[in-house]
Amino acid sequence: MLKNKTRSLPMMRPALAALALAPLLAPVIVMTTAAPALAQGFGGPGAYPEQSGEGLYKGICQGCHMPDAKGAVGAGAYPALAGNRKLTAKAYPVLVVLRGQKAMPEFGSAFSDAQVANVVNYVRSHFGNGFADTVTPDEVKTLRATLTAR
Ligand code: HEC
Repeated sequence: MLKNKTRSLPMMRPALAALALAPLLAPVIVMTTAAPALAQGFGGPGAYPEQSGEGLYKGICQGCHMPDAKGAVGAGAYPALAGNRKLTAKAYPVLVVLRGQKAMPEFGSAFSDAQVANVVNYVRSHFGNGFADTVTPDEVKTLRATLTAR
């Protein structure tokens, strides 16, 4: 009996190991499929050849904020950008995109001033958002400088 038991143990080990790892791996799989990355940079300068606000939104932002910009709650909470009064002052979304915020990754290392301006202008003028003023690449540059001046 004892002999049988010890012989069956090595066979059990891989299965047990998989069982023990499953709870650890599951969230990783969920996180990597639900969102392109978490709270870290999205590459360096020139990482995104796309320049238009619409293209950047569809290629990157909508993965978390959803195609209708109404956000989502699942593996994390992704705020709606549609009808979001926090977009009223244009500096706010510019700073969030440049430096990231909590679970929102930063795009300041990857986006040019024009790319930041384009995607913020796109979000502030679509999805039912009707902010008439726009942000210029020069304004993004000025805001970016306040971050590096720390
Ligand atoms: C990996 C997921 C993810 C991606 C990609 C992402 N965001 Fe976010 N975003 C978040 C999360 C999470 C928050 C909430 C941050 C917090 O808790 O303050 C957020 C917050 C914001 C906010 C502030 C909203 C508020 O109510 O305070 C803006 C504006 C925003 N994102 C714009 C964008 C834009 C534009 C892009 C594309 C360039 C983008 N996000 C890409 C996850 C993401």
